[in-house]
Amino acid sequence: MHEERRFPPPEALAAAANVTEEAYARAEADREGFWAEQAERLDWGQKWDRVLDWDNPPFAKWFTGGTINAAVNCVDRHVTAGRGEKVAIHWVGEPEDDTRDITYAQLQDEVNRAANALTELGVAKGDRVAIYLPMIPEAVVTMLACARLGAPHTVVFGGFSADALASRIVDCGARVVVTADGGYRRGAPSALKPAVDEAVAKADGLVEHVVVVQRTGQEVAFDETRDLWWHELMGRQSPQHDAELHDAEHPLYVMYTSGTTGKPKGILHTTGGYLVGTAYSHWAVFDLKADTDVYWCTADIGWVTGHSYLVYGPLANGATQVLYEGTPDSPHKGRWWEIIEKYGVTIFYTAPTAIRTFMKWGNDIPAKFDLSSIRVLGSVGEPINPEAYVWYRSTIGGDRAPVVDTWWQTETGQIMITPMPGVTHAKPGSAMRPLPGIVADVVNDEGESVPDGSGGYLIIREPWPAMLRTVWGDDERYKDTYWSRWPGVYFAGDGAKKDEDGDIWVLGRVDDVMNVSGHRLSTTEIESALVSHPKVAEAAVVGATDETTGQAVCAFVILRESAGDGGDEIVAELRNHVAKEIGAIAKPRQVMIVPELPKTRSGKIMRRLLRDVAENREIGDVTTLADSSVMSLIQTGLSSGSED
Ligand code: PRX
Repeated sequence: MHEERRFPPPEALAAAANVTEEAYARAEADREGFWAEQAERLDWGQKWDRVLDWDNPPFAKWFTGGTINAAVNCVDRHVTAGRGEKVAIHWVGEPEDDTRDITYAQLQDEVNRAANALTELGVAKGDRVAIYLPMIPEAVVTMLACARLGAPHTVVFGGFSADALASRIVDCGARVVVTADGGYRRGAPSALKPAVDEAVAKADGLVEHVVVVQRTGQEVAFDETRDLWWHELMGRQSPQHDAELHDAEHPLYVMYTSGTTGKPKGILHTTGGYLVGTAYSHWAVFDLKADTDVYWCTADIGWVTGHSYLVYGPLANGATQVLYEGTPDSPHKGRWWEIIEKYGVTIFYTAPTAIRTFMKWGNDIPAKFDLSSIRVLGSVGEPINPEAYVWYRSTIGGDRAPVVDTWWQTETGQIMITPMPGVTHAKPGSAMRPLPGIVADVVNDEGESVPDGSGGYLIIREPWPAMLRTVWGDDERYKDTYWSRWPGVYFAGDGAKKDEDGDIWVLGRVDDVMNVSGHRLSTTEIESALVSHPKVAEAAVVGATDETTGQAVCAFVILRESAGDGGDEIVAELRNHVAKEIGAIAKPRQVMIVPELPKTRSGKIMRRLLRDVAENREIGDVTTLADSSVMSLIQTGLSSGSED
């Protein structure tokens, strides 16, 4: 949908906004000075000597010489400042009336106990801890306890399979896993512990302890030599814990994300700069007024959004926020709006795929609830189509609340390009403009800045505080993936255009990475999963446009001779196989059994043509195909009905 409307900031919001136009000019005049000013919003032990050390690019160091503790900044300092009774988290379990309000003082108590508990298990500074938990307060508590000790955490999304969990445990060498018996999803307990047992068995004796939160009470296998109940372990700990100050560049966490190869990358974030970037951007982009706002980010804690804008940013800022365990449709499709009404949520941050789902469910559902508390709306994860933007703004935001369409990545750690609610005359579908202190651009193949009105590749020109520092254990991959295309420039992997006013529109990935419901999936990773099935000879995967999920996984598969036609259930079998190997989110929407795949003479699969098929388009230029009859073979095969 084409949308020409512009939405200026609401007058009252603009008049009291945290960020005004002046911040952009100030940051431009002295970028490092600007970030140093933002660093003052945190409590440091030792102050830094240098804001940025970029002597050895692309390996950046921020706030060198500074010492800081992330957990102290997210919890203790609010208690010390007399805000211990303030609610940090309104936790809402999926079963109705299963709620808990946790104050900053209570959070401090629990984080300290958890830090002592991990210490009892032998976790020391530098050790890695894997976290595989549902959306329950213990997830936040464990992350902060790790941060307190300086033990980098790696949170694995609960929707990932045992195999995916095992590969992450092994890659980062985690000796302790914190999990739960299960969590509630769509009205029923959903088990987590069996996947951990399987993953730990695959991790070759690496994992020494598994701590299990009792959430659902479902039956779990329990290995007394290795497993401990969270409540027993926590129950015997002191609520006092002296936090050590860590170097600003001490590793905070590793977050795995899909790249263009089969092996996920462990994105490393460190402490000081990351906290500065997330705390500032959370305050600025959402115009947070910590004393009065109630903030809610619906992202799962297993993704970077859950790290930056559910844990570290909001808690560093002393916000009050909602944390919801379950799905939006349980027990009814108005659950999210009911929560907003109940807690008086003022700032709401979610993903376009959710917004499009609500649009489909109909306006009468949100209309039943009082959403008048909302004053800022955020969107993240993929480009938001103008139609969804306008619906979100009007139906959820009452035509009053500005929408901030925030572009960023696991790698960037913080929001990079976004409208500002008190400044920007927003255009639906555009992420608009880099944050103060961020230097982004759109360039052509030669790395030259394109003129307004043109498209190209989205890049970042200057280091920023929350940037990734490397790929865990693989500096070469870090350099190759992000910094090799144009010297000294970070390449994000996205295409974008600058409109006539110079505002940025992010168009999506230009590499073999898909974005399904705002989750990143690698085509190669899914292809590897498919070819690991004994009946599969070859597989090619593409992301096809999907009305609800943005993109959907479409797989083209050649079966082995010995598999015959694969049998009636072959499509279901292959879809389930991918779910087992990677996780349910990677399950292909379609599996098409084909006799051939389109390849160039050098053997490279022409995904562009497969995308044409998956999106029911006329097939594009086939002149570079090694065998030009392949596409008609594929299409004939499909019309005979092998689609799922
Ligand atoms: O393609 C861009 C898209 O999501 C990618 C990053 O995915 P991930 O690391 O999983 O992080 C998601 C949450 C930050 C980007 O390369 N993307 C994210 N936000 C937007 C977006 N595309 C357009 N507009 C956005 N607001």
